Amino acid sequence: MGRVYLAIHTVLMHVVAALVVLVYIPLSVLVRLFLWAFVKPLRREELRGKVVLITGASSGIGEELAYQYASEGASLALVARRKQALKSVAAAARERGAPDVLVLHADVSDAGQSRRAIEETIAHYGKLNHLVANAGIWSTCPFDEITNITAFTTIMDVNFWGAVYPTYYALPHLKASRGKLVVCSSAAGTVATSRMSFYNASKAAVLRFYETLRAELGSEVGVTILTHGYVESEMTMGKAVQKDGVLVVDQEARDVQIGVFPVGSVGAMCRVAMDGIRRGDRYVTWPSMYRPLQLVACLAPEIVSWLSYAMYNTKAGGGAPLSKRALDATGARRFFPEGLRRDPVVIKTDEECDDDEGVAASN
Ligand SMILES: NC(=O)c1ccc[n+]([C@@H]2O[C@H](COP(=O)([O-])OP(=O)(O)OC[C@H]3O[C@@H](n4cnc5c(N)ncnc54)[C@H](OP(=O)(O)O)[C@@H]3O)[C@@H](O)[C@H]2O)c1
Repeated sequence: MGRVYLAIHTVLMHVVAALVVLVYIPLSVLVRLFLWAFVKPLRREELRGKVVLITGASSGIGEELAYQYASEGASLALVARRKQALKSVAAAARERGAPDVLVLHADVSDAGQSRRAIEETIAHYGKLNHLVANAGIWSTCPFDEITNITAFTTIMDVNFWGAVYPTYYALPHLKASRGKLVVCSSAAGTVATSRMSFYNASKAAVLRFYETLRAELGSEVGVTILTHGYVESEMTMGKAVQKDGVLVVDQEARDVQIGVFPVGSVGAMCRVAMDGIRRGDRYVTWPSMYRPLQLVACLAPEIVSWLSYAMYNTKAGGGAPLSKRALDATGARRFFPEGLRRDPVVIKTDEECDDDEGVAASN
């Protein structure tokens, strides 16, 4: 009986899959095209008067999103560990039109500090409309070259738990405002590129977690997942956890990793993200070349595996991996954004938040 029951379910699942491919996808493409052309352009959330908390706002994508929300008239709560960098971003956000900016020094991988960042925001503004869970760190090294494996728990702590903790404490307030959750996953969440095992795993965890949350929340709170590719930021300047488990800038490792892949402008990426967030899109993928890449990764993961091995392994022929040799041979580094081409690159230095006391607020 058990076997028959299982067989019925298996047949049913295959029938459902066939119907999805043959009927649902062709029809939904037409509906999506119609929505994209005639409905979505009209659906733009007004951000003036809204309160937005952004984690990882001291540099890169979080900083740029802060400016774009500010220019739309949103009030901000900016969270990160570097105090001076956050203060400068806050001042620039005020200049661009944010009526009020709250600066919150916190380590989002700490549940208590995340909770206090949300509480300070509610105490100050009385509400929260968007949570942008953006803070993250990168790692670029082959798994079998790691010399300090236990240090790599930090990737999951910041990228996964550092999104989950603020989300947990913000959710009641987002439900009250019928607000939005915006989370930074990555194209790495679906495309398993070599040398980024922990980063890829953390971004896949983020992707699946927030897709599950979306299924639980329905229309109560919108969930927009950003699945972008390489974008100019301190991360793509080479700031990453290296094989010894230390977070430092290594331009050589960055060059090997990025190879001839394009690195997009952070301003352009955030403009596309803002459009998607305001329309309530489920996913924002930019540049759009990552959409077909994600499709290939889903339908034929072995192709991604083969190409990734060919590009990044150092076993064949010795010396630098093909990705780096291709970068040098084509001179494609000249297409990197200007900030990434400097040698050495300029990273914002600041005292990291070493006081584990938690959140210190200023505005
Ligand atoms: N750049 C890309 O190519 C790319 C592509 C796909 C996805 N992403 C994702 O985009 C997000 C933003 O990264 P980015 O590219 O803008 O890099 P970035 O310039 O290095 O910014 C990372 C931000 O995260 C903050 N942060 C790191 N650890 C933190 C912690 N424990 N607590 C609080 N804040 C912390 C950093 O601030 P402090 O150091 O001051 O704390 C900084 O503001 C990340 O989630 C990243 O994975 C980036």
